Amino acid sequence: MTGSEQKNNGSAGLIVYSSKTGNTRKLAQGIHRGLEEALGLPVRLEAVEDNPGPGSAWILVGFWADRGNADQKALGYLNSLEGRAIGLFGTLGAYPDSAHAQDLSRKVSDTAAGKNTVLGCFLCQGKIDPALTERFRSLPADNPHAMTEDRMKRHAEAAKHPDEADIASAVKACLAMVQSLPGAAK
Ligand SMILES: Cc1cc2nc3c(=O)[nH]c(=O)nc-3n(C[C@H](O)[C@H](O)[C@H](O)COP(=O)(O)O)c2cc1C
Repeated sequence: MTGSEQKNNGSAGLIVYSSKTGNTRKLAQGIHRGLEEALGLPVRLEAVEDNPGPGSAWILVGFWADRGNADQKALGYLNSLEGRAIGLFGTLGAYPDSAHAQDLSRKVSDTAAGKNTVLGCFLCQGKIDPALTERFRSLPADNPHAMTEDRMKRHAEAAKHPDEADIASAVKACLAMVQSLPGAAK
């Protein structure tokens, strides 16, 4: 980044999020509040649709899980970045300690790492669109995606997230990401 880019936006860094039903936006807003408070510096917060210019020391990119990967808008934004320090955060219907979540984290990190430095990836659950739950419910029992008791439990748990504890964990994780950069404000 050039000195003029730093002066132009005057912020410590940039948070860009993609969100269809609001979970990732809520998480992004919580991270924004938490980082500004912890760093004592302004941080930019932008929706991916506004295609924000990346002129910041670091960028946190938020995504939602869509069929095993980050959603298309977040992937498109990540693919447009080059030579940046990127932290990732995302929401998903699955449990964050599941193999599915690990796979998602690896895929998105690999995409971001193509031409950039990846600082880490934080994931938490986010409530699943009730229309999707209904679609699963209507599937016949022999369908691989049919609703089971375990799946119902997972959807019910997801409906409580992201909560205040998720936001606190996300702030902590994202702060560690941005403070891992040499010369970062502590
Ligand atoms: C079309 C669609 C596909 C989804 N695919 C996945 C998925 O592959 N894995 C997962 O864990 N959750 C999946 N989810 C759940 C969402 O990722 C989750 O609810 C997320 O919090 C939505 O974020 P948002 O409110 O910011 O849009 C999917 C949801 C929808 C609507």
